[in-house]
Amino acid sequence: MTVPFAPARLLFGGDYNPEQWPREVWAEDMALMRRAGVNTVTIGVFSWATIEPREGEFDAGWLDDVVALLDENEIGFFLATPTASPPPWFTLAHPDALPVRADGTRLSHGSRDTYAISAPAYRHAARRIARFLAERYGAHPRLRGWHVHNEYGSVDHGPHAAAAFRRWLRARYGSLEALNDAWYTAFWSQRYDGWDEILPPLATQYLANPAHAVDFKRFCSDEMLAAFAEQRDELRAAGSTAPVTTNFMHPSWDHLNQWDWREHLDVVSVDHYLDTDGADGEAHAAYAADLTRSWGGGPWLLMEQAAAGIRDGARHAFKEPDRVIRNSLGYVARGSQGALFFQWRASAGGSETWHSAMVPHVGPQSRTFEGITELGALLGRLQEVAAPPHDGPVVESDVAVLWEANGRWSLQTPHLPNDDLDYTIEVRSVHRALWRAGAAVDFVRPGADVDRYRVLFVPTLMALDDGTVAWLTRYVEAGGHLVVGRFTGVADEHQRVVAGGYPGRLRDLLGVRVTEHLPLAPDETQVLSDGSTVDQWTERMDPPQADVLATYAEGRLAGLPAVTRRHVGGGSATYVSARLVQESWDAFVAALLAERGVTPVVPEAVGTGLEAIRRRGAEGTYLFLLNHGETSVRVLGKGHDLITDTPTDPGITVPAGGYAVIRETPDATWSVHPLPSP
Ligand code: GLA
Repeated sequence: MTVPFAPARLLFGGDYNPEQWPREVWAEDMALMRRAGVNTVTIGVFSWATIEPREGEFDAGWLDDVVALLDENEIGFFLATPTASPPPWFTLAHPDALPVRADGTRLSHGSRDTYAISAPAYRHAARRIARFLAERYGAHPRLRGWHVHNEYGSVDHGPHAAAAFRRWLRARYGSLEALNDAWYTAFWSQRYDGWDEILPPLATQYLANPAHAVDFKRFCSDEMLAAFAEQRDELRAAGSTAPVTTNFMHPSWDHLNQWDWREHLDVVSVDHYLDTDGADGEAHAAYAADLTRSWGGGPWLLMEQAAAGIRDGARHAFKEPDRVIRNSLGYVARGSQGALFFQWRASAGGSETWHSAMVPHVGPQSRTFEGITELGALLGRLQEVAAPPHDGPVVESDVAVLWEANGRWSLQTPHLPNDDLDYTIEVRSVHRALWRAGAAVDFVRPGADVDRYRVLFVPTLMALDDGTVAWLTRYVEAGGHLVVGRFTGVADEHQRVVAGGYPGRLRDLLGVRVTEHLPLAPDETQVLSDGSTVDQWTERMDPPQADVLATYAEGRLAGLPAVTRRHVGGGSATYVSARLVQESWDAFVAALLAERGVTPVVPEAVGTGLEAIRRRGAEGTYLFLLNHGETSVRVLGKGHDLITDTPTDPGITVPAGGYAVIRETPDATWSVHPLPSP
């Protein structure tokens, strides 16, 4: 990160797409934005066709007017490069730049994201429009930053991708011998005798090659990063010094290894949509925020969220205004420099007509807009929170979870011992248990500095390279406490099994030798000697060179080790050989944290429905209290609630569904008492 991203206050607003509306509506937009306290919008995300209506012919008069209007109303803006949606003229002029699916279908325009990322014509056109925008608006005083592209992640399997993939493979492997070896092409006569024989992973008759598939994912992430970097370089070459970001996407549009992008972004930003309208949505928001903060290593920005809708299965569930506020505060508590939405005004037509918005179809006389206005007002009261700490992290944590895009990609390959293994589900189970235990959590990538964490979890990571094994070993030898979930380290970075007993890469560190993977039937569960319940997966292991913490209590593995711990100096390496159900992860994690002296942010809040998050700032710490429960709670401690502008020493009530943001007196301690229901 080279350009500081340090807004003086929390940013509030959303995607603004005025080209969908006649100008009378723009005037109303400005009045409503002012009423709601909007200070930031993102413009231009999908405006390519209106900015460059014909190839090389620019017409940005309307955008000048939008920028002038925002300026008059003192509203800052992110300017997007609109390269996620090339106009129809582009695809007609450059049919080779249309993306191809794995099944060979060449896609057509008529939606969005219809481009082949490696096509020279696409890359040229993307650079050209980025340059145009930078020259015209790059020095505007209200430009808060560049929002390059939108949610990189569209994968192409066509000829341009094939050529770029081969270049990437040559750089990675150097020789075909090395590639054939890494990909294990001796199996099924897949040996490559020339680089041109290698294709992107297209539809195949039967199972595809897993190393090929994972390398293609790695290539795609690198290729998208290269496309991003080209645009960023155009913006800089035009003289713009505004911060540059691109919005990542949770939970489903994850084709990137986001860790690799960090050094290319001035601030990490993300779009997050809850995956359920049930209570677990709060754990999902916490997961997304912790992961995003960790990717960037500091303050970040929630670029888009939904103002009133949650896509749960086939339906749009309604997101209550109080939940919108609590979620927004939750992101801010975990380091976001604001709360932005997709989108400002609900579209009257088009593909996302029914997506919620800050100004819904029914207009400002709505619970949604009233809630948005309330959120704008209260974020205004939290200005001081935006100033980052002078040193150290924005959220302090004693616990880390290893997260790696390669972990997901390995488990997406077919024909594993159990194809129901899902990387995100596994990682989220551990994060959810930590969240329920009230602990602050960081995510880390292999090689990160982990000395300060008392516990490091590796929920699962099938393929490990030498460096990661050495890094995990060093952590334990230095006194760290490592917890490793099943099916971790069974393979090297090319998805090749390390023979001689599972998990080959970690046998020594864990002191175990697993001889059989024994996946369970879909509805089958088993009980362990410590009362835990496991599903999906069990393992048979030899007597371990480690303590046995729990054995299988029933079934064919009865009496055999299920959870082990090897002590190494002051550290330890624990192995969980079966899949714990969520409640059992919860109990395991709570006990482990207590044992290792990791305390919840506010111990008395645990189990009350009150989520407590501490954000560090320039002037001290802020305790965010979000009451997701159905009971009001009384909270007592030394500080000042910025939401209600009241001291907290005599105690404050955080109503069910409510929230408080407390500037803490140094070393304040907090007591929490649920109030009896009226
Ligand atoms: C993402 C995209 C938006 C919109 C929303 C809602 O945030 O960036 O353009 O499509 O999802 O689906």
